[in-house]
Amino acid sequence: MRNPNPYEPYPVRIDDITVETEDKSLKTFKFVFLNPEHEEMFAYKAGQFAELSIPGQGEIPIGIASSPTEKGFVKFTVFKTGKVTSYLHSMQVGDIMGLRGPMGNWYPWEILEGKNILIVGGGFAFTTLRSSIKMMLDNRDKFGKIDVVYGARSPGMLLYMDDLKEWEAQGKINMHITVDKTDDPNWKYHQGFIPPVAEKVAPPASDDTYAIVCGPPMMIKFTMPVLDKLGYKHDHIIMSLENRMKCGIGMCGRCNIGKELVCKDGPVFTLDQLNQMPKEY
Ligand SMILES: Cc1cc2nc3c(=O)[nH]c(=O)nc-3n(C[C@H](O)[C@H](O)[C@H](O)COP(=O)(O)OP(=O)(O)OC[C@H]3O[C@@H](n4cnc5c(N)ncnc54)[C@H](O)[C@@H]3O)c2cc1C
Ligand code: FES
Repeated sequence: MRNPNPYEPYPVRIDDITVETEDKSLKTFKFVFLNPEHEEMFAYKAGQFAELSIPGQGEIPIGIASSPTEKGFVKFTVFKTGKVTSYLHSMQVGDIMGLRGPMGNWYPWEILEGKNILIVGGGFAFTTLRSSIKMMLDNRDKFGKIDVVYGARSPGMLLYMDDLKEWEAQGKINMHITVDKTDDPNWKYHQGFIPPVAEKVAPPASDDTYAIVCGPPMMIKFTMPVLDKLGYKHDHIIMSLENRMKCGIGMCGRCNIGKELVCKDGPVFTLDQLNQMPKEY
């Protein structure tokens, strides 16, 4: 059952807070629902987002970082940038706030099952990719080869270090971690920007191989020509947009691109779909 009133946030308690990065600009908040029924109503798929709602402060759309296969909680990783995110960063374990959602569409798992998946993620846009990777690992037999290219500015800016190490140790997916630059003599992964690493390690394009790409505009800009060069068709390249939003449920028109409402018709689109939309994203 869904919430009959999509404007009403579910009350949640902050159960845990993880400082993800060395500059402390990114924290992961683990929430538990005060009412277990609400957790059932919040059933989500990897790629969706929710509105984090803080009384007296406002609401912010944030991608869901936990996987639907992780039960009993839901996680979000938030970059401290303005009014609401700064307030959220000052909150403590035990504090109560609200959660509206889940919202938007998701990565097209009904098409992606059985296929090879290339994930290309940069910076803190890795959140819904973490959800996706964890979900695929928990359903490993349903997917073909999985390659993950994930990069950040420096080792201390990589999110989810414990997960990255665990996924690498499990050896069920191919992890290709990179940082722009590091002086760390013990660094054992790639060094350099994401697009050239992706070019080196990406599986060959085929009807059975899809790329999911999320990251800062610069990374996207230089990754697209690489995927073009490798022959990935534009309907096999999947991206997620982060337009400004208000209602999150297709009512207010705040997030539109042409006639598409990013909160409802997206945030996930194929590059093919984006090519047919006005360049307002
Ligand atoms: C689908 C989606 C998923 C996102 N996922 C994440 C995530 O996983 N982690 C993360 O750190 N950030 C994410 N963002 C961006 C995040 O929503 C903004 O950084 C946040 O709203 C800024 O709020 P603020 O009050 O701190 O900033 P301010 O600049 O003070 O913003 C004031 C208000 O403007 C709106 N707003 C501002 N920037 C954005 C923005 N980029 N997108 C939408 N609304 C905005 C919000 O309503 C906000 O309350 C996502 C955005 C979208 C649309
Ligand atoms: S945010 Fe209101 S229609 Fe999308």
